[in-house]
Amino acid sequence: MSGMDDALTTVTLKVNRFTPRPERDRGARGGSPFAKKSGSPFGGSSSRNRRPHGKQWVQEYTLRVRPEDTVLDCLLTVKRTVDPTLAFRYSCGHGMCGSDAVSINGTPTLLCTATVADWAVRPNPLAQADDEGFRHTGDADDAAANAHEDDSGLGVIELAPLPGFPVQRDLIADIDPMLDQIRKLKPYLQADGVLATTSEGKVDVFEYLQNPQQLAKYEMLTNCIACGVCEGSCPVFAGGDAFIGPAALIAASRFVNDSRDTATASRLDAIDTADGVAACQSVRACSRQCPRGIDVGEEMWQIVARVKER
Ligand code: SF4
Ligand code: FES
Repeated sequence: MSGMDDALTTVTLKVNRFTPRPERDRGARGGSPFAKKSGSPFGGSSSRNRRPHGKQWVQEYTLRVRPEDTVLDCLLTVKRTVDPTLAFRYSCGHGMCGSDAVSINGTPTLLCTATVADWAVRPNPLAQADDEGFRHTGDADDAAANAHEDDSGLGVIELAPLPGFPVQRDLIADIDPMLDQIRKLKPYLQADGVLATTSEGKVDVFEYLQNPQQLAKYEMLTNCIACGVCEGSCPVFAGGDAFIGPAALIAASRFVNDSRDTATASRLDAIDTADGVAACQSVRACSRQCPRGIDVGEEMWQIVARVKER
């Protein structure tokens, strides 16, 4: 065996798979009981919020891997060499685009930044369902504590689509509800359009100038990649009908805190709704896994306070 082969071990992926029924076969019933019917720019059920109908099953794939391989590497190996029907989404492969958020062992996170060593969980033969019937699968910390190489490999990683969004196929969730809500909050600079001019009336300065302190107020928020991990972690979000969600509020906050933006009042009006800041329950689950390091729960707290202080 070569040195490279010596570094290989095994991992088993348990993938929640889903194939939708063709559109013409679906009934008209479904949707969230919390769906807001009218009266809000964010409200309204749509066909994409209906409970999906189709074939669901769990499929296992056991692979030879290196501990430092990412879960995305594993899925690409499955797709290319074992099962071309497996569906998942990714683009950059480096934590920059946000397109590959899924649930790993029950925790929303990015496929491309999750390593096998961090997430594989060795099956516990003594594991029992709790009183409510849920079986605990552990998170990255449990996995890191449990995982080590031996003949039985690194263990198991459970994969499911991002919670809170309608599933389209296998690990692909429809994140359009989140993107629609971000768009409705006008996620672009609205400045007054006045540029400095010279004494001859010619445009002199094209930049909207800021000092470092003004930039620091929102710079971290520009890191958001709209991956939906915070929304998938939020127990209130559930598809965006009852709550516009933390990602949309982060987008609003980014411009509310930008000294160049002149639309602060209308931005705060837009989120001062029953399904806006009023729906946030301050659970702070949104903060735990933001791949861009944003303290989402703290930012929610700040924007809620800003709305209330008006
Ligand atoms: S705030 Fe973080 S977790 Fe939420 S969408 Fe943006 S990058 Fe993703
Ligand atoms: S593939 Fe782009 S963030 Fe993971």
